[in-house]
Order: sequence, then structure tokens, then C-alpha cells
Amino acid sequence: MVEILSAEELDKMRAAGKLVAKILIELKKAAVPGVSTQELDDIAQRIIKEAGGSAPCIGYGDPPFPAAICTSINDEVVHGIPSKNIILKDGDIVTCDVVAELDGFCGDAARTYLVGNVSEEKKLLVERTKECFFEGLKQAQIGNRIGDISHAVQEKAESYGYGVVRVLTGHGIGRSMHQEPDVPNFGKPGRGHRIMKGMAFCIEPMINMGTEKVLLCDDEWTVVTADEKPAAHYENTVIITENGPEMTTFEEDM
Ligand code: MF3
Ligand code: CO
Repeated sequence: MVEILSAEELDKMRAAGKLVAKILIELKKAAVPGVSTQELDDIAQRIIKEAGGSAPCIGYGDPPFPAAICTSINDEVVHGIPSKNIILKDGDIVTCDVVAELDGFCGDAARTYLVGNVSEEKKLLVERTKECFFEGLKQAQIGNRIGDISHAVQEKAESYGYGVVRVLTGHGIGRSMHQEPDVPNFGKPGRGHRIMKGMAFCIEPMINMGTEKVLLCDDEWTVVTADEKPAAHYENTVIITENGPEMTTFEEDM
């Protein structure tokens, strides 16, 4: 079932989204050479605590995810586990994926940050992954279908020769971080759930410089590209209002 949120509930989604945006702004500043991914998680946990929120990722799944955010470096696509032993270095790209719950509702967003001096081809991958998100967002209109978003993301990514990850998708969000419907980053226009006022979902292209194929690491969380080439990720929580799609987790400079 796809949940339709009331005006009051959408306001709570906005508040949760704002908290996620605030965290991502701080993480962007903190993602410099020499910093551990554990320090990034500590920052996120502190801001969530100060706001009176909670971190749904902690303890999620099996084996239970041990942190508040996912930190995925270079060929890690998503779900990297923060660690005091993982230190960012010059030339890395690091994806920070943040979920926060506030007053019963969730926000979820991801950004891939440039650490120090990054190669031109990695920079382009990061910029173009964001572009893929916004192509998808344009299609998030009342009366369209989820497949319209999926198709737009895929077309854009493949126009650059990139691989679109298939095994992971965007998702509905609301009281919990993962709800129906799935929002794939590939597909046919006109297919899938119809987009209606009051829906909330995450659009999150996960785009690989090379092959779309990914592998799961022994920690049972970290997803890496099969060819070890870099990957980027860009995600916002989107709510559908009568004025069109609205990103709850978006602010400038994040
Ligand atoms: N933020 C992720 C998403 O976009 C969810 C991560 S779940 C975790 O769906 F437990 F692995 F953190
Ligand atoms: Co996310």
C-alpha cells in the first residue's frame, strides 16, 4: 500500500527533511582528507540528538547496521559502514547517506562529496549523478507514473555511458524509512504506481562510472562496483503537493 499523507503529516516530513539537510551541510564541511568516517557519523548523531530526533539506520536489518549514516568511498556504491579506521584521503569521493526521524516522520538524503583534489572524471560523475536526479524529479508530477521518473533517470545516465545500478532502488518514505512504492532508476515510461498528491518517496540515482554490476562485501552491507570503478549517489526525499514535487531534504550548499 502506498501511504497518502495529510497536510499536517507533510509538515512533519518537511521538519524531518530539514534536519537531514542540516546534517548534510555539516558533513560536507567535515569531509576533508584525514577525517575518519566514524567522525562523520559522530557529527550526524550529535545533530540528530540535539534536535530530539532518532536515527532509524542504527540497528536496522540483519546483521544490524551499526551506525546512523552510510559512508561509501570511491568504488563503494552505498551502505558503507563508518569506522574510525577508514580515513578520507585526497582525491576520494565519499557518499554520505543520512536518515533522520523527527516527530514520527523520516527524511532520507545522500550526497557524494569531493575530498581534496578530485580527478575530472570523478567530478563529472558526481555532477552528472545530480543531473540524473533532477531529470527524474521533473517527472514527479501528479498523474505521471513512477516509471516516468525511472526512465528519465536511466536515459540521462546512459547518455553519458554510465552504468545504472539495478539491484537497489529508491523507495517510499514516511513513518518509516522504507515503504512502498519502489522507485527504480531504470524502466519504461507509463509504468508503475500513479503519482498522487500526498505521496512521499526518495529518488536516488546510484550511478557507476563503469559497469552497472555490483557486489556485496563480507560485512553484508557495503555494496561495491564489480569493476572497482567509482560510483556516485544523489538522493532527496520528495513530497508531492498540489504545486508539484517538493524536496524536503534540499538546501543550497549541501
Ligand atoms: N539511506 C538508505 C536509503 O537510501 C538506507 C540505508 S539503511 C541502512 O535507502 F541501515 F543501511 F543504513
Ligand atoms: Co538514503
